[in-house]
Amino acid sequence: MRISVIGTGYLGATHAACMAELGFEVLGVDIDLAKIEALANGVLPFHEPGLPELLRKHVASGRLRFTTSFEEAGVWADVHFIGVGTPQRAGKHAADLTFVDAAVRSLAESITKDALIVGKSTVPVGTARRLRELIDRHADGARRIGLAWNPEFLREGFAVRDTLSPDRLVFGVDSTEDEELLRAVYADALAADTPLIVTDFETAELVKVAANAFLATKISFINAFSEITEMVGGDIRTLADAIGYDARIGRRFLNAGVGFGGGCLPKDIRALQARASELGLDRTMRFLSEVDLINLRRRDRVVHLAETMLGPLLGKKVAVLGVAFKPDSDDVRDSPALDIAVRLFNSGADVAVYDPEGNANAAKRFPRLGYVDSLEAAVTDADLVLLLTEWNEFRQLTPADMMPLTEGRKIIDGRNVLDPAEWEHAGWDFAALGKRF
Ligand code: UGA
Repeated sequence: MRISVIGTGYLGATHAACMAELGFEVLGVDIDLAKIEALANGVLPFHEPGLPELLRKHVASGRLRFTTSFEEAGVWADVHFIGVGTPQRAGKHAADLTFVDAAVRSLAESITKDALIVGKSTVPVGTARRLRELIDRHADGARRIGLAWNPEFLREGFAVRDTLSPDRLVFGVDSTEDEELLRAVYADALAADTPLIVTDFETAELVKVAANAFLATKISFINAFSEITEMVGGDIRTLADAIGYDARIGRRFLNAGVGFGGGCLPKDIRALQARASELGLDRTMRFLSEVDLINLRRRDRVVHLAETMLGPLLGKKVAVLGVAFKPDSDDVRDSPALDIAVRLFNSGADVAVYDPEGNANAAKRFPRLGYVDSLEAAVTDADLVLLLTEWNEFRQLTPADMMPLTEGRKIIDGRNVLDPAEWEHAGWDFAALGKRF
């Protein structure tokens, strides 16, 4: 079986390399020539642990190739995965489906043999059924072109592991023939007893957005309690631990802090609200607008704390540790850390940003911030230190590491990873999200 993967961003590049690792011959397709040339040379244009090694291995073995030609994919592959982006539409909440529609249409026009198109991108419910019609309109009627929806649940930073050993597989199908083909693609995971849900298009599309909406809600739930403990006292981490022991609740995704960002959770909860409204269900997903607002208020809280601790920010040196939306990623899309850094800069602070991987992407968006290439350079002479992305090297920080470098002795732990007592004992002004200050 030959596989093409259309779209070679996070999702597509990971999927392509992992399919090659499973033994398939794979063709990665993208309209971005620069990206395709880099990948074809074994160069990954983003940071993802373990993926560069897989990419190089399978480019070298010849099992993984890249092209900008849909025609080549249409003639060559039996199964075509669609992994193109569905970004938030400019100025709107709804998802932009331009890339998905264009990819499916180009494929349908290019396919010259029986084939299966498998959607992986996160889409509003109803998209697959619409694409089914699009395929029928544009395909050569002599071929059988199946369509399936197979959402992806990979997390950045764990993308290879999540793809090779998923915690569940979801197949949205309208024929057993397509289901059988997908079972063959995922034979290894199924042999390892990965739970499989075979369902219709709509359920498959909804599983993905429901999962991300739930995760976002869980984070904003604990962050809402942060607003209370900031007011009355209490320990947000202990609260999360205590409710997390209830197996129905679970401790994961209850880490209070600057909140969620990235290319998925924020846009997915907005797109879901927009889709519900289109369906005439304006009130159904309205709670997600509160989830979004609670999340964004966490950023205000950090800016407010910085002003409280420093007074007027003009000319003050602020060290920002972490700018990626989460550790083990260089992704700064909708990053709470970057947003906060920019707001402090706009208020006149002299901001020194250090992230082990995220500086370059942040600098592309906001070149005027000061970017430095070490923790030491960031914190030297800082009036205030902000820990905003919990990379391991920041989690392990102690007052002793900082003392020779910064006299300011003021720190905000935006991710609740430091021990307040240790810092307070060492004479620091220590603030954290969810902690009364
Ligand atoms: C998320 C989902 O977790 C994946 O299952 C999904 O496949 C993916 O979106 C997607 O739709 O493609 P990802 O965006 O990589 O994955 O990041 P997460 O690990 O979910 O973290 C999202 C944000 O929530 C980060 O900014 C993180 O710092 C924040 N977060 C996470 C918290 O603030 N508190 C927590 O307890 C957990």
